[in-house]
Amino acid sequence: MKRPCNNLVLYSKIMIFLMLFLCVNSQLTQNFYSKTCPNLLKIVRKEVQSAIKNEMRMAASLLRLHFHDCFVNGCDASLLLDGNSNTSEKFTPANLNSARGYEVIDNIKTAVENACSGVVSCADILAIAARDSVLLSGGPFWKVLLGRRDGLAANFSGSSNALPAPFDPLNTIISKFEAVGLNLTDVVSLSGAHTIGLARCTSFDSRLRNFNGTNSPDTTLDTTLVSELQNLCPSTSDGNNTTPLDRNSTDLFDNHYFKNLINGRGVLESDQILFSSDDATTTTKTLVETYSNNSMVFFDDFVNSMIKMGNISPLTGSDGEIRTNCRVVN
Ligand code: HEM
Ligand SMILES: *[C@@H]1O[C@H](CO)[C@@H](O)[C@H](O)[C@H]1NC(C)=O
Ligand SMILES: *[C@@H]1O[C@H](CO)[C@@H](O)[C@H](O)[C@H]1NC(C)=O
Ligand SMILES: *[C@@H]1O[C@H](CO)[C@@H](O)[C@H](O)[C@H]1NC(C)=O
Ligand SMILES: *[C@@H]1O[C@H](CO)[C@@H](O)[C@H](O)[C@H]1NC(C)=O
Ligand SMILES: *[C@@H]1O[C@H](CO)[C@@H](O)[C@H](O)[C@H]1NC(C)=O
Ligand SMILES: *[C@@H]1O[C@H](CO)[C@@H](O)[C@H](O)[C@H]1NC(C)=O
Ligand SMILES: *[C@@H]1O[C@H](CO)[C@@H](O)[C@H](O)[C@H]1NC(C)=O
Repeated sequence: MKRPCNNLVLYSKIMIFLMLFLCVNSQLTQNFYSKTCPNLLKIVRKEVQSAIKNEMRMAASLLRLHFHDCFVNGCDASLLLDGNSNTSEKFTPANLNSARGYEVIDNIKTAVENACSGVVSCADILAIAARDSVLLSGGPFWKVLLGRRDGLAANFSGSSNALPAPFDPLNTIISKFEAVGLNLTDVVSLSGAHTIGLARCTSFDSRLRNFNGTNSPDTTLDTTLVSELQNLCPSTSDGNNTTPLDRNSTDLFDNHYFKNLINGRGVLESDQILFSSDDATTTTKTLVETYSNNSMVFFDDFVNSMIKMGNISPLTGSDGEIRTNCRVVN
């Protein structure tokens, strides 16, 4: 006997099927390349390993590239596009004379193209290289979600505005994270990336002498560290001199960054305010304390936040393209 709502059931089944299909199609997955590029993860790991063997800092630099990619037009490798100083994101304040590792990404892309041509996006390569960099520095492992496609244009003004600056007040940093769907936990856990890598004097020397018109150094900065950094950065002409962001265990991905903050030893103003600013009391301070005491909680939260950051507005399906050369659109 034919029931009256048979058609309705059929229609809703079709609808559910279509919705599932569309959802699955627009979501990143762990096994996206398992058929089309089965050795992808091994190839990237090997290249990252050799780059790090050559220079340990490269782990930090690769991790930062993924961050600077994802905050601008989503994780679409727009950061990697060459261009002139008005168009390429490589020339914005956050990146100029600072972001590095582009050649390593080129090498990885070449190795990947040799194995499976025209299949793997530069945006996914950045995500895998960032994960491997954390792991090879002693940090946590996670399964990277894949299936991003590459953007067709850089966004110079987006890069200038969306990326947090080391001089931004805490509420600005929090808003910039919220603008891309990240919350307070993500602000603090991802800042823990500063457990590896270096910063230039120009990124923090405003704290060392006449801070904010006070005629004195930033009072939240440990006085011993003030002297050391003053020696490193005697004048603006030394703006490219560098110091470790975590001076305790520079190349090791651990929770010492947060212990430093509790001891007034955060190098950037944007680091120290997570613990020392008035606004931190109601926002970020408790998390800094938790992570400083418990690296398991830090690692767990960091992994969740990296996956969230890697999910910022990915291009999927037939949007964007798979670039042949990460520096130029096809
Ligand atoms: C919270 C806001 C953030 C600000 C204001 C900020 C700012 C900075 C600055 C100023 C530097 C030094 C650049 C230089 O002097 O050349 C730096 C380095 C670095 N940042 Fe951040 N950052 C932030 C968040 C993040 C996040 C979310 C990540 C990654 C998940 C990250 C990863 C790194 C790494 C690894 C380095 C060292 C890079 C190297 O040695 O090549 N940062 N950051
Ligand atoms: C960048 O823009 C400025 C002002 O619009 C212009 O004068 C300059 O020639 C441009 N530079 C490049 C490399 O196109
Ligand atoms: C560039 O980035 C800004 C800020 O993230 C965004 O509002 C804008 O829509 C982007 N422009 C393009 C053309 O993608
Ligand atoms: C941030 O989002 C994560 C889920 O992505 C959630 O577990 C966490 O509690 C949130 N943190 C805050 C402070 O809301
Ligand atoms: C800088 O000085 C202004 C004016 O005295 C003050 O309102 C502000 O809180 C100070 N900023 C910091 C980071 O100390
Ligand atoms: C830092 O290095 C870059 C690239 O070599 C150079 O253009 C810039 O002037 C240097 N900055 C300082 C403050 O010396
Ligand atoms: C790092 O911190 C530990 C204490 O947590 C200390 O014993 C050690 O000497 C520090 N190492 C460096 C290089 O500062
Ligand atoms: C860390 O834990 C110890 C003991 O578990 C506690 O006494 C201390 O107050 C904690 N420190 C922070 C900054 O939370």
